[in-house]
Amino acid sequence: MCGIVGYLGSRDAFPILIKGLKRLEYRGYDSAGVALISQTNHLNVYKVKGKVSGLEQVTEREDTSGTIGIAHTRWATHGEPSQVNAHPHVSASGQLALIHNGIIENYNVLKEKLEKKGYTFKSSTDTEVLVQLIDYIKESGKLDLLTAVRLALREVIGAYALAILDHNDPDQIIVARKSSPLVIGIGENEFFIASDATPIVEFTDKVVYLEDEDIAILRRGEPLKVVDFSNVELNLEVQTIELNLGQLEKGGYPHFMLKEIVEQPDCIQDCMRGRLHVEDNNVILSAIIDHKEKLIHAKRFIIIACGTSWHAGLIGRQLIENYCRIPVQVEYASEFRYSNPVVGEGDVVIAISQSGETADTLAAVELARNRGAFIYGICNAVGSSIPRSTDTGSYIHVGPEIGVASTKAFTGQVTVLAMLALTLATVKGSISESELKEILEEFQAIPEKMKKALETNDQIASLSKIFTYARNFIYLGRGYNYPVALEGALKLKEISYIHAEGYPAAEMKHGPIALIDTEMPVVVIATQNSLYEKLLSNVQEIKARKGRVIAIVSEGDDTISKIADYCIELPKTVEPLDPLLTTIPLQLMAYHIAVCKGKDVDQPRNLAKSVTVE
Ligand code: F6R
Repeated sequence: MCGIVGYLGSRDAFPILIKGLKRLEYRGYDSAGVALISQTNHLNVYKVKGKVSGLEQVTEREDTSGTIGIAHTRWATHGEPSQVNAHPHVSASGQLALIHNGIIENYNVLKEKLEKKGYTFKSSTDTEVLVQLIDYIKESGKLDLLTAVRLALREVIGAYALAILDHNDPDQIIVARKSSPLVIGIGENEFFIASDATPIVEFTDKVVYLEDEDIAILRRGEPLKVVDFSNVELNLEVQTIELNLGQLEKGGYPHFMLKEIVEQPDCIQDCMRGRLHVEDNNVILSAIIDHKEKLIHAKRFIIIACGTSWHAGLIGRQLIENYCRIPVQVEYASEFRYSNPVVGEGDVVIAISQSGETADTLAAVELARNRGAFIYGICNAVGSSIPRSTDTGSYIHVGPEIGVASTKAFTGQVTVLAMLALTLATVKGSISESELKEILEEFQAIPEKMKKALETNDQIASLSKIFTYARNFIYLGRGYNYPVALEGALKLKEISYIHAEGYPAAEMKHGPIALIDTEMPVVVIATQNSLYEKLLSNVQEIKARKGRVIAIVSEGDDTISKIADYCIELPKTVEPLDPLLTTIPLQLMAYHIAVCKGKDVDQPRNLAKSVTVE
């Protein structure tokens, strides 16, 4: 979603801002813009519909000088993607330029009030209303910018991360946040602003994450100052970021998505490091150990998440119920938050989110916490909003995920959920030593088996050519592989724009079987497990109706492989860990089909990496 970058220091701001916007491109956007106060003290604002490269083109012959600036990539919410709706928005006085992520919910009321005062609006955005409101308060009260921002934000209902500069004061940027992330990087006599840490890492590793209703004053030559709405100065917590630049670059791969698929064995190794102790027949997620009484005695677990993270949650349910015998329900965060859910003391809510910023998941967490539930977060982005609003949790430690389609985060989430279930089962005593030993040994072998699964890449690339022009796909799986079928279908939809549906295989005869004909590719996840015979029947049913079966089977399979049209063989593992392998060929297939179709794999249309609006 929208991205914010800002710079104040002694270097040329423009190249830093453009590079920062490019680092944020992965979030998804439709227009871009920049505001700079030039060396000759002009406020220069440039905006384009489309890509950051377009912004570079239109500014080639323009004055982009200046050591203070703010820049933005917009993902349209209020008003279509267009140059006029792009940020920064400039106030009626022509002095203030503002960029904003989030949604001002009462913008209509504020707009009417401003119109009565004579303000007119060029764009359809809520952001323009915000800059005019600040302008009005500043000009009518003859106030300084900080006071005007503080007073304006008191009138605002909604979510925002904003940065504003004043042409009359080329030494200051003011930023503020509520329910939308904002990070400030602190360098030597310079500041960097960004909506996540990725644009900042190459300049400094010292950052401050703003909290809700924080207003920060960045002033040239002075230390960072943060105040609340009443202008009371707040203590700063300067943190060190652990990201490195290599993690943010493609490292020779044509797309981030492919890089992220291929690095999964290493990511899973990192995720397990220090947690899995096969030699001691033990697995330790410290958050579980620290809160074991609360967790063991939970009435039930409620997993809340969206999209791919929700699919991981479905696997989590099976893992926790299987090993811990605690009832688990899995909810879409967006439904949960508006369903007046029965949730309260004694419930443990597990919030799963790669970005840690998904608006619906965050709101669901807040609702559950207010009703007395204990909140456990499973996130990737360190320091993001969800981990900061939970009681405890575990990071998945798979490194930054840049490709919009989630891949390594999914396998990281499943890995953490498996470790969570096993740690809890160990402290609860609901798993035997021998069962634990078997699964831990398999767990340790997963990264190597993932490497074998990745060796199917060339076969899948060839297969993808055959199916590039398919109009529909069905994905079937059962048990632990049912959520993998959903995830495979989602991956294909997202990046190749082919319609795809995932089903529990046995549900097929309750409706979807009507779709099967010679045109319909059906991906069946049929590895060797307790449901293999059932899947065999499902494959026979599809073949009887002339569907084209792509079967994901275990090495050495000699039954389904004989009936299916195409077979992809994977190493065998224990059933609960199977998703960590079966997901890989489905990710690769979505990737290669999208490449064959010439689609923008890393930034698919209409999608955002971090969905910070509901
Ligand atoms: C799919 C995908 C999305 C996200 C969803 C939740 O590839 O990336 O479905 O899984 O938007 O995002 P997080 O996990 O950041 O809360």
